[in-house]
Amino acid sequence: MPNVPTPHNGAKDGEIAKTVLMPGDPLRAKYIAEKYLKNAVCFNTVRNMLGFTGTYQGRPVSVMGGGMGMPSVGIYTYELFNFYGVDNIIRVGSAGGIADGVHVKDVVAAVGACTDSNYAAQYRLPGTFAPTADYGLLSRAVENAKKLGISAKVGNVLSSDAFYSDQEDALKLWRKMGVLAVEMEAAALYMNAARAGKHALCLLTISDCPFTGESLSAAERETGFTKMMELALSLA
Ligand code: ADE
Repeated sequence: MPNVPTPHNGAKDGEIAKTVLMPGDPLRAKYIAEKYLKNAVCFNTVRNMLGFTGTYQGRPVSVMGGGMGMPSVGIYTYELFNFYGVDNIIRVGSAGGIADGVHVKDVVAAVGACTDSNYAAQYRLPGTFAPTADYGLLSRAVENAKKLGISAKVGNVLSSDAFYSDQEDALKLWRKMGVLAVEMEAAALYMNAARAGKHALCLLTISDCPFTGESLSAAERETGFTKMMELALSLA
């Protein structure tokens, strides 16, 4: 593989599994590795963006933090797909619920990721690209959610560049288009996967609802997160 280690990832060729689970928080990656993976070995400490490879039910799987926002996730996922031979990246993150009927603790699978970012401009397309999940991963996620008794909501999300936006009405406009939730990374992940001919899926746990002010306590975050992790690991 070309260019490894990279300026952002200290892993050597062969140290990362074909499927990577990617939370935003690197300490969450460490927690997932310790809680769910057998024989987990740390492959990256550059910028403390911790990454681990181990096995889950006998299958090799890696888990690595991706940071916050599309530039950060864009770097790590680009390198995993293009330099480390990774085939599948499953983001496991949190999001703000914006559609009616979406509440804290809900698990959302992002079919598509609308965005206010300019990430797609690099492809110089003669139109607007629609970043979407890999259908194979998504359909397995829907099937496995049923088997695991998890009622996942499946639909569009918004990947926003601004957590603190000056445009107070922006989320209302996305809500009018049926967008379920807002987060900050899926669109870049989906575009990198599309460009590399690889597979990506974004699973989210709703941690807050900007319109109603609902938000999860730390303990509740943990429970909601567990359901999503079991679903993500079932795809590895
Ligand atoms: N991630 C979790 N909650 C969020 C929100 N309200 N906006 C953007 N990203 C989020």
